[in-house]
Amino acid sequence: MLPYEDIKEKLRTMLSPHRFAHSLGVEDMAVRLAERYGADVEKVRIAALVHDCAKEIPEEELIDRAHEYGLQLDEISIVEKALIHGPLGAKIAQAYFGIDDEEILHAIALHTTGGKDMNLIDKIIYLSDFIEEGRKYDGVAYLRELAFEDLNTALIKSFDNTIQYVVSLNSLLHPNTIFARNSLLMETRKMGE
Ligand SMILES: [Fe+2]
Ligand SMILES: [Fe+2]
Repeated sequence: MLPYEDIKEKLRTMLSPHRFAHSLGVEDMAVRLAERYGADVEKVRIAALVHDCAKEIPEEELIDRAHEYGLQLDEISIVEKALIHGPLGAKIAQAYFGIDDEEILHAIALHTTGGKDMNLIDKIIYLSDFIEEGRKYDGVAYLRELAFEDLNTALIKSFDNTIQYVVSLNSLLHPNTIFARNSLLMETRKMGE
């Protein structure tokens, strides 16, 4: 894996200033959450920094690039191409930055849709993307507070927001988003028993 500073400088050349600033915001939030919940801070830092490394690949190239890396695309991602930047980002992170850590790659791959049985790093990356300090939407301040009090409940709220938003746009909802929300609900109910 490239040293942290090299990853950062290379990433800067791959993203617009706006997206790069977002990436640093996600890194900052993810590190704070990792410290709060006892996750591996260095893995979380790298996953957060590079999570959007495939975000600015032009839409018309996404499918070809995904095939180049041997990714199998499901029918939803072929229509909602923006979803591809998650799994493709994991491949690019490996190829461009030499990141081989499975946990880091998994969290990058899952950050757009979420998925069933997300582990702690997956959860922190997904949520940090949603609540980093540069994000501005109604309720974000509350969600930031909640994230430090109850990670799973904050995630469920994020998935609720995402699902409502996707429905309001009349867009396709990826099944992994439903799996993610369901498994979080089941997890929190088990903890409450
Ligand atoms: Fe993203
Ligand atoms: Fe992002």
